[in-house]
Amino acid sequence: MVKQYIDSNQQRFLDELFDWLRIPSVSADSRNRNEVRKAAEFLKEQFITAGVDRAELCETKGHPIVYAEKIIGSSLPTVLVYGHYDVQPADPVELWASPPFEPTIRNENIYARGSCDDKGQVYMHVKAFEAMSKLNLLTCNMKFMVEGEEEVGSDNLGKFVKENKDKLRADIILISDTAMISLEHPSITVGLRGLSYMEVEVIGPNRDLHSGVYGGAVANPVNVLCQMIASLHDEHGRVTIPGFYDKVAELTQEERRAINKAPFDLDAYKNDLKIADVKGEDGFTTIERTGIRPTLDVNGIWGGYTGEGAKTVLPSKAHAKISMRLVPNQVSHEISELFTRHIKAIAPPYVAVNVIAHHGGEAAVTPTDSKAFAAASKAFEEVWGKSPIPTRDGGSIPIVALFKKELGLDTVLMGFGLDSDAIHSPNEHYGVKNFRLGIETIVAFYKHFAPGSSNAR
Ligand code: BES
Ligand code: MN
Ligand code: MN
Repeated sequence: MVKQYIDSNQQRFLDELFDWLRIPSVSADSRNRNEVRKAAEFLKEQFITAGVDRAELCETKGHPIVYAEKIIGSSLPTVLVYGHYDVQPADPVELWASPPFEPTIRNENIYARGSCDDKGQVYMHVKAFEAMSKLNLLTCNMKFMVEGEEEVGSDNLGKFVKENKDKLRADIILISDTAMISLEHPSITVGLRGLSYMEVEVIGPNRDLHSGVYGGAVANPVNVLCQMIASLHDEHGRVTIPGFYDKVAELTQEERRAINKAPFDLDAYKNDLKIADVKGEDGFTTIERTGIRPTLDVNGIWGGYTGEGAKTVLPSKAHAKISMRLVPNQVSHEISELFTRHIKAIAPPYVAVNVIAHHGGEAAVTPTDSKAFAAASKAFEEVWGKSPIPTRDGGSIPIVALFKKELGLDTVLMGFGLDSDAIHSPNEHYGVKNFRLGIETIVAFYKHFAPGSSNAR
């Protein structure tokens, strides 16, 4: 019955999602402020049409939060669905095969910024709710909180959660904003890394200099910054910041064996990325390097002349944005402090450095022995024909740790993306099949989580 509803309405679901994807809700770009709000309004209307009791925009200092709920009985369990309607900037736009905000289907994939991360995945929840509501299958209370600032650090969501504990009261959080291993190997994410995002500025002479007249006599901030960054890893691929690994939770051999049981084809991985070899911390597999180990990466570096042709200049300043992915039990603000202290300690006397800490967040590990996890497992089994493999993802959703801390709630990370969906990259896409089966899986989750008395399925 559910499957039939989804199949016969699929074209409409896609058309509506496309309308939403056309709104460029890029939270990082202040010029898009109105568009971000439009995307929030659109979602609110969608919730209302789908059958919620009420839906509203909750204002924050930044972009609004969309909140909606359907309460059917005070003694029934409540699921709080979280997601985000903001998207990453689309640039470099010239590398897109079709415009990022003109969704198109090619090879059974929806191409558009936000198609997978996270509008497409949020929309599955709206449509799963619509199906359950129209078919009279609701067996629990549902709350939806969809924010517009996830891609810029969720600063205002933390405050909203702290101030609205009653409103957000629930039994479990459900999120679709992660990836699964492949269509053949469904998986449930049980771990996310934390994050410390830093910016470094190295300051040399008071102005750009002629690189012939002064070169060799005055420290070049770009050279100095590169040397400093190079020294942040040793020859074993380990981060050299003192104290960086102090709190890292080391896994037992047994736990590591379990993690490495997940299907992983190293050759396919290398081939997909067109790299000759992988590279990371010695002594760990690729799955471990992204799942259970902390890392440090330069996300962007600039300074001096980067325009067309050659301009001989010894730049006055150099900059880098550096992210560190964290694991349990590292603490984001402590790692940011260690980083800052270390950068200042290794800065040579002939330059000045400034270090800024941007957003951060804690790692999270979700329980696999809960009723909600069992329901998610069964849902995957039913729809995908295989029991899902628990995986630890490398990405971050800082709010998951905050939900636990502030609301005491565990999360089930039921994501339907694929690593190859190119989220945050040009040509982001999302499988039509993932979208359709995702809706089915979500409906099946509720069936198992709150069986109720309905046999209309
Ligand atoms: N949905 C991603 C996180 C993600 C992606 C988790 C794939 C697991 C698998 C999320 O939108 C995201 O991009 N988060 C940021 C962190 C945030 C604080 C800006 C990230 O991981 O870089
Ligand atoms: Mn996301
Ligand atoms: Mn993202």
